[in-house]
Amino acid sequence: MEEVEEVEEVPDRSAEELVAVLHVVHCDNSRLQYYAEQPSGGRVSIMPLTPFVYEFFLFNSLYQVDWAASNEKKKLVFHSEDDFNEVKKQRAFLSFIKPYAKESPAELYRAFEPLLHIERTEGDWTRVTPDPRISISRGEKFFRDILKLQVLLEQCTMPSDIPTNKNTFEILKECTHFIYLVRNNIFHGSKSLGEVSDPNQKRRIEVYDLFLKGLTSLFFLAKGKDAAACDFVPCPISSSSLPTPNSAEVLDQSLILSAIAKRFMKVGDSRLVARFTKIISPPNIDICPGKKSSLFYPSAGRDFITPILLGLPYCTQFYFFERSNSKYQPEIAGILRHIEGVRIPTNTPRWEINGDRQCLDFEFNGISRRLHWVHADNTAILHEDIELKFYFHRGDSWGEGGSGQEWDSKLLPELIKLIPASSSCIYLTDGIPGGFETQYSTEKFDLNVPFIERGRAYYCGRLSPLANA
Ligand SMILES: C[S@@+](CC[C@H](N)C(=O)[O-])C[C@H]1O[C@@H](n2cnc3c(N)ncnc32)[C@H](O)[C@@H]1O
Repeated sequence: MEEVEEVEEVPDRSAEELVAVLHVVHCDNSRLQYYAEQPSGGRVSIMPLTPFVYEFFLFNSLYQVDWAASNEKKKLVFHSEDDFNEVKKQRAFLSFIKPYAKESPAELYRAFEPLLHIERTEGDWTRVTPDPRISISRGEKFFRDILKLQVLLEQCTMPSDIPTNKNTFEILKECTHFIYLVRNNIFHGSKSLGEVSDPNQKRRIEVYDLFLKGLTSLFFLAKGKDAAACDFVPCPISSSSLPTPNSAEVLDQSLILSAIAKRFMKVGDSRLVARFTKIISPPNIDICPGKKSSLFYPSAGRDFITPILLGLPYCTQFYFFERSNSKYQPEIAGILRHIEGVRIPTNTPRWEINGDRQCLDFEFNGISRRLHWVHADNTAILHEDIELKFYFHRGDSWGEGGSGQEWDSKLLPELIKLIPASSSCIYLTDGIPGGFETQYSTEKFDLNVPFIERGRAYYCGRLSPLANA
């Protein structure tokens, strides 16, 4: 008798393969900037419309699958087209991620955390352009629901505090349904494709996009992925972080992604700015910083944009010390000039070389500012004629190629001498190397961006020469 060869059954990996492919698309979609080339030359940003539309395609691919059945049968199982309309499929998708969220509330928080860092979704800008599928009141309800989600996130002391009760999932369900309706409404009120940027419409689309990315992120986290869009999608920076006379948005996602790509900003910085300014609110725009009011950043590299955003309400002079001196002229003017309130006179040379430093002049809220990129040892700051108003420090350990100088402890008494006796200086530092010495601190807060730059903690507060008197 002939022996029958036993054929080993090849496991069906179609479900995991689909998750893997869509996860790459999902991550790319939050890291990329999208532009449209114009026939006349030049290009316009098509953010945040394009990433939102792509994310919706991706969401659509995800909710066609019956994930519960796919897990059980260990192969890709799609919902039956006869029994499931789109809404029913979306509900099934939510039901699939719900047990994971209940088991791991911190991951639910993580997925929707970007919504915490944008403006509260209230006010005139939340009024949608109605169409046959969407009424004004439906739009108002969506933004009220997002506001409820923002409040739930705000109330958490720790990410795992977020409630995973019926109320939370009802909000997710309602918002998901609205997003589904809105996808056809998205071009209403636009003059052209490149101009889906009526400021209010743009802000609404940002909210749709961040919510949808929260939903898809939660799915990928539930499927065991280590990272998801929620960890790196930039959150626009608003005028509550950097007050300007005109606008509610001072730096949009596109510019933030540009700054990150050029290494002028770090991935989590838009959230760092939002968190910092919730703890230490910037002063009213009528308060003008003096001519010597300065920011100091030792071992700065080319990490320019975040300290500038944070320091603008307090400083006119920005000292970035960076020992290494190349002929490189960082192209930050192109980013700075798009910050609401910034003006760079076009006839001014961009970077001016002045001894050991390169300087760049610009205006913010009508006041002259100067950026000094000083190519000298950090300690040379102690000989500058300045009034220290903002101290920013990170990424300066030996291991990172930094100075290893202990600015937050040993050198702090020297730094304090730069603060006028009757005044104080705001700080934001990672306290590395050497730890952060609280002796001169009148206020100290721990400031973590839990799911980004894991392991890096920040401290912020105020330094005062009198604190130790
Ligand atoms: C790891 S990089 C970090 C740059 C920036 N802090 C960041 O987080 O992106 C450290 C930088 O410190 C500079 N540096 C090291 N020792 C220094 C010193 N004594 N004075 C000024 N710059 C220094 C190095 O050239 C390097 O560019």
